[in-house]
Amino acid sequence: MAQPLSALPLLILLISGAGAAAPPPEVPSRGSDLDPRQLTALQSMGFPTSRDPCSVPSARDNATACDNSAPFRHLVSLRLANCSPDLDLPTTALRALSTLRSLSFLRCPVSAPKHLPVSLASSLRSFSCDTSLRRLTGVWLSRLQNLTDLSVVGVPISTSGPAVVLSQMRRLRSVTIARTNLSGGVPRHWHALDLVYLNFSSNRLKGRIPSSISALGSLQNLDLSSNALSGTLPDSIGDLADLKNATFAHNSLSGPIPDSISQLSSLTHLDLSSNQFNGSIPKFVAEMKQLKFLNLEKNNFQGVFPFNATFLRKLDVFKVGGNANLCYNRTQLPSKLKLKLGIAPCDKYGQPVSPPPDRSTRADSDYADDGSDEGSGDNGGGGGGNHHGPSKLVLGVAIALSCLVFLVIFLICLSKICR
Ligand SMILES: *[C@@H]1O[C@H](CO)[C@@H](O)[C@H](O)[C@H]1NC(C)=O
Ligand SMILES: *[C@@H]1O[C@H](CO)[C@@H](O)[C@H](O)[C@H]1NC(C)=O
Ligand SMILES: *[C@@H]1O[C@H](CO)[C@@H](O)[C@H](O)[C@H]1NC(C)=O
Ligand SMILES: *[C@@H]1O[C@H](CO)[C@@H](O)[C@H](O)[C@H]1NC(C)=O
Ligand SMILES: *[C@@H]1O[C@H](CO)[C@@H](O)[C@H](O)[C@H]1NC(C)=O
Ligand SMILES: *[C@@H]1O[C@H](CO)[C@@H](O)[C@H](O)[C@H]1NC(C)=O
Ligand SMILES: *[C@@H]1O[C@H](CO)[C@@H](O)[C@H](O)[C@H]1NC(C)=O
Ligand SMILES: *[C@@H]1O[C@H](CO)[C@@H](O)[C@H](O)[C@H]1NC(C)=O
Repeated sequence: MAQPLSALPLLILLISGAGAAAPPPEVPSRGSDLDPRQLTALQSMGFPTSRDPCSVPSARDNATACDNSAPFRHLVSLRLANCSPDLDLPTTALRALSTLRSLSFLRCPVSAPKHLPVSLASSLRSFSCDTSLRRLTGVWLSRLQNLTDLSVVGVPISTSGPAVVLSQMRRLRSVTIARTNLSGGVPRHWHALDLVYLNFSSNRLKGRIPSSISALGSLQNLDLSSNALSGTLPDSIGDLADLKNATFAHNSLSGPIPDSISQLSSLTHLDLSSNQFNGSIPKFVAEMKQLKFLNLEKNNFQGVFPFNATFLRKLDVFKVGGNANLCYNRTQLPSKLKLKLGIAPCDKYGQPVSPPPDRSTRADSDYADDGSDEGSGDNGGGGGGNHHGPSKLVLGVAIALSCLVFLVIFLICLSKICR
């Protein structure tokens, strides 16, 4: 999201795998464009600067970007990738880099500097730390007050909750704090009201999703998956009018799908899997025009499955297995789709007639499975009125197939005899 930077020349900075392998500081042959204080700072961090960081052709990793100021250019973006663990990040060097607007660490297992100099902390707009800096605190991160983009992935953060990290950041547009062992709850008070992307996946967040989440009126992506959240989805979720991608998978959320979801006309991706949602699956979901991905599996949904084949074929991904009290109306879906659903057919009272088909064995014998559904339906005494159509169809197809096989064998034999 570092759009202001994209126009600037991106240049590589080749970081040596071992800080020790840095060549002796040398005066670059063509005379450096880079501010000498910043050049020294980079050198003190063990980076080879034999080629001017402001004039090396761009590459994807280990990148730097410089502004065009005179007489010296300044670093505006620095990305440190795959550093050696004994790389040093001296405070004086970091202070000299206070022109940086973007700083990112990728697989740099060095210790986090105790105090990021205030001048650097407040100049940063984008900070990213992926499997780097060993361990961070909420307070350390909270000093990065002017960030628009924050991403911390795979680094433990000790704090009482994400509110500590975010409380001072009013300009945030994108936040990822994922796989950080983050504890506490989803914040109740939001300061960054322009947030477009919020990702707290794979942490230890617990408690309810506060209804005040609706304050994030520009939110497009919400990923709260793989936490320990409980309670219901707040009705106010329907106020997030721009929401496109919502993932609540792998929590302990319960209750019904709120009706207000029907207002989310941009929603393309909804994942409620592996929770304890219950109640019936609302029919209005089929009216959600943009929906392409819908995962409802492993919940406690009940009643008759409301979707028809037209809707299901429109989706790229649909999952609903692992809902023991949910069933489908035999007369309303083609056999092929029924088998894919992983739920049982309904009896005439709208109750499942048998345990849902085991998805792992189904691939072996599609037809046999359909047959056994019918059988258990009869045993249960419920499916009486419904079971003729599908079973006849299956039998018909089976007979037709065997006839075809016989015919082919017969023709082969015949051709051999005739020769
Ligand atoms: C970045 O630096 C690491 C360590 O020196 C190196 O292995 C890697 O190839 C570099 N990446 C690029 C794109 O130069
Ligand atoms: C960064 O944030 C601080 C404190 O919120 C503010 O005083 C300062 O003006 C901001 N700096 C820039 C360069 O925007
Ligand atoms: C994760 O947090 C818990 C307490 O909240 C702590 O006991 C545990 O050591 C932490 N794990 C890591 C890897 O930091
Ligand atoms: C959230 O972050 C995790 C970890 O980086 C990533 O795997 C996941 O795709 C992200 N979610 C969204 C919605 O982008
Ligand atoms: C939606 O979120 C999932 C992860 O939760 C991610 O894999 C997917 O790429 C996201 N889609 C979009 C369009 O952002
Ligand atoms: C759903 O579960 C909640 C408890 O988690 C319960 O109070 C409620 O009655 C259930 N609703 C239905 C329709 O089963
Ligand atoms: C399928 O369901 C959708 C939404 O409920 C409805 O608009 C459509 O007419 C149905 N199609 C058929 C063939 O029943
Ligand atoms: C299944 O669909 C048929 C025809 O659409 C309807 O008459 C019947 O009541 C439905 N059964 C259940 C259990 O909803």
